[in-house]
Amino acid sequence: MSGELSPIDKAKFVAAKRAAEYVQSGMRVGLGTGSTAAWLVRCLGEKVREEGLRFRGVPTSTRTAELAREVGIEVISLDEAGWLDLTIDGADEFDSELNLIKGGGGALLQEKIVATASDEMIVIADAAKHVETLGAFPLPVEVIPFGWTASQALLEEALVTMDVLGRKTTLRMNGDRAYITDEGNYILDLHLSRIGNARQLAMLVNQIPGVVENGLFIDICDRVIIGYGDGRVETRDINAGTVSEERVDFVEDDNLFRDI
Ligand code: 5RP
Repeated sequence: MSGELSPIDKAKFVAAKRAAEYVQSGMRVGLGTGSTAAWLVRCLGEKVREEGLRFRGVPTSTRTAELAREVGIEVISLDEAGWLDLTIDGADEFDSELNLIKGGGGALLQEKIVATASDEMIVIADAAKHVETLGAFPLPVEVIPFGWTASQALLEEALVTMDVLGRKTTLRMNGDRAYITDEGNYILDLHLSRIGNARQLAMLVNQIPGVVENGLFIDICDRVIIGYGDGRVETRDINAGTVSEERVDFVEDDNLFRDI
């Protein structure tokens, strides 16, 4: 029930609910991963069941695929879809240019492929994700398991030439084992504190042998929908240069809040 939801969860929910209105029947839609994206999938499932919305979803992780099927969304692969009308996803950080850090949930590779294969990407987030400069959130970098310590050493060496504040890198763990992505890879988290030139860093990181992809999304996101705990949502459109604010109504005993 919403009464038990934290202000952050309410913020995520209203951003997701507003974003769900961008999905129209006939669309092929990329479905992000994470707690905010999970709200989106639930909102879209409700629209499928109660409003007859018909669209096909391309999930960015096995977690999202399972939830999407559970709530009644037709799931297809990116290869079946070919190209997408829209992708909606969460983010760990976004700046005023709508550049992002993603991958806190470990799904950055599929998320980046799906978002870049879309006409439009909308990010849904609570206001705490907005930063002046990217980098306080550790930057996830997906590497193949073979020789990952060599990739890590090369990454740390490359960071010396970069405009960053911290240079520590850590292997993401799942208990006492390395975290494994959906693609069977590892994730190195780069504790940079502040990234001076995100575009340059994104290009450099991807040149290191063993690196599959990094969590910097540069010039990919078109719109961000920021939710607040009191039901307000702010939509920023980077292409149109517009900012608008409205309110999303939700009832305390909304079905969506059950079983959370
Ligand atoms: C997953 C992601 C998520 O979008 C990001 O971690 C935000 O998650 P949440 O919505 O739970 O805060 O990039 O790889």
